[in-house]
Amino acid sequence: MWLAYRNSNSKDAKLLPEDKKVRLLGWIASKREHGKKIFISLRDRYGYIQLVANKDQLPEDVFTNVKEAYLESAVAVEGQIKKDPRAPGGAEVHLSNFIVISKSEEWPITLSALKSPEFLFDKRHLTIRGPKSRAVMLVRAALLKNAIDYFIKNDYVWIQAPTFITSAVEGGATLFPVEYFGRVAYLTQSAQFYEEAVICALEKVFVVQPSFRSEKSRTRKHLTEFWHIEAEVAFASHEDIMKVEEELLSHMINKTIEEMSDEINFVRKGKLPSSLEPPYEKLSYDEAIFMLQKKGFDIEWGDDFGAREERALSKMFDKPFFVTGYPVVTRSFYHMKDPNRPEVTLSSDLFAPEGYGEITSGGQRIHSYEELYNKILEMGLNPEEYDWYLEIRKYGMPPHSGFGLGLERVLTWLLKLPHIRDSTLFPRTPARLHP
Ligand code: 4AD
Ligand code: MG
Repeated sequence: MWLAYRNSNSKDAKLLPEDKKVRLLGWIASKREHGKKIFISLRDRYGYIQLVANKDQLPEDVFTNVKEAYLESAVAVEGQIKKDPRAPGGAEVHLSNFIVISKSEEWPITLSALKSPEFLFDKRHLTIRGPKSRAVMLVRAALLKNAIDYFIKNDYVWIQAPTFITSAVEGGATLFPVEYFGRVAYLTQSAQFYEEAVICALEKVFVVQPSFRSEKSRTRKHLTEFWHIEAEVAFASHEDIMKVEEELLSHMINKTIEEMSDEINFVRKGKLPSSLEPPYEKLSYDEAIFMLQKKGFDIEWGDDFGAREERALSKMFDKPFFVTGYPVVTRSFYHMKDPNRPEVTLSSDLFAPEGYGEITSGGQRIHSYEELYNKILEMGLNPEEYDWYLEIRKYGMPPHSGFGLGLERVLTWLLKLPHIRDSTLFPRTPARLHP
C-alpha cells in the first residue's frame, strides 16, 4: 500500500539534480542530533542515504516524530535533494515530511552486544539488517545466479532431486535420520545418484539444492545444511569434469566480481585473488602428502587430509588448484579406479587458496554393474540398499563423471569470512538450530 508513495530509492536519489523532490521508504539505520538538526541514515534495499531534519524548517509535530522515532522504525519520507560533499555519496535529503509507518522498540543490538558473536547469531533475524550481512547476501545471490548461468549457457538441464532418501552417498556416519511413516528415511547428502540416473535421458544435468550432513566435526567450514551445486555428465572422463569445474568456478567468481565489486570490497579484507583464469594447477595426492610431510605434518599415504593439513596445503597457493588421484581407501565406493594404478581413484578435489581448502569433490564413477556390485561388497555395504543405483548399470550406462561444489565454501573464501556460518542467512550447525 505504501509502494505507490515511493518515487526513488537511496541509490538513484543521490544522482538526481539539486532541489529535486523525492519520496523514499525505508528504515532508520542510525540517527544523531546536532543542534537544531537531526541526521538520519535511511536504509533501503539499495543502500543508505542521509536525511536531514531541520527544526526551523519542519512543522513541530513532524520534527517531534523524527526526534522520537527509534532505530529501525519503518518510515516514509519526503524532501529535497541537496548536494553536499560531506554527505555519504555526495547528496542528502532535506526533509519536508516524515511518517513512521511501523514503529520500532528500542533496538537490542547495542555496541556492547556487537562483542558477542553468539548473541548476534541468536538475534540473526535482526542482525541481518546490517551492512555486512546485506553485502554478503548480495554477493551470495550473485554467485548462485552466475553458477546457474554457466550451466544454462553450456546446455545443461536443471533437474531437481528428492530430499528424503534411503541410503548414503557419502558414508553412513553423516546421515540425518527422519521418521517416515514408521520407517527410517534420511535427509539427502548429495543428489549425485539421481543425477547419474538422469544422464541416461538428458546427458548433462545440474542440481542446486540443500544437502544435509550430521557432521560431528565442528570446524569453521562445516554446516549441517549447505547449498550444494552438483553436475553430472554422460560420456565424460575425470579430465573432462575437472575442466567443467574450473570453468564454472572462474565464471561464477569473475562475473560476481564484475557485478558486486563494491560489496566484495566492503567485506573482504585484502586484495582480490589476482588471477582466476583456468587452467588450474593439478597437484597429485602423492605430491600433496610429500609437501605436507616436508612441512612436518604427521600424515601418511592413504590418510585423508584433516582440517590443519588442508589449511596448510591451501596456504601454499594463491590461485585455486586441484588435488588429484585420491587413494581408493579415502573415497566413497562409487569412485572409478585408475586403470594404470588400481590403488588410486580417478578423482579430485578443487581447493581454494589462502588457507580455505576444499570447495569441490568430483571424479569418474564406476559404470560397470559387476565392478560396482563387487566394490559395494568389498566395502562391507549391502547391495540391496543400492538396488536402483546398481540397476541403472544394467541398461547402457556410459562412462560418466560429475562433481559437487559447496556454495558457502566458495563464498567464505571469496569474502574471506572468519567462519562458514557468516556465509548463510540462518546457519545450521550442531549447536545452532534457531532462529
Ligand atoms: O565432497 P562431498 O562430500 O562430495 C559429494 O557429496 C559428492 N557426492 C558430490 C558429487 O560428486 N556430486 O561434497 C561436495 C562439496 C564439498 O567439496 C564442499 O564444498 C561441500 O560440498 N560440503 C560442505 N559444505 C559445507 N558444510 C558441509 N558439511 C559440507 N560437506 C560438503
Ligand atoms: Mg569432498
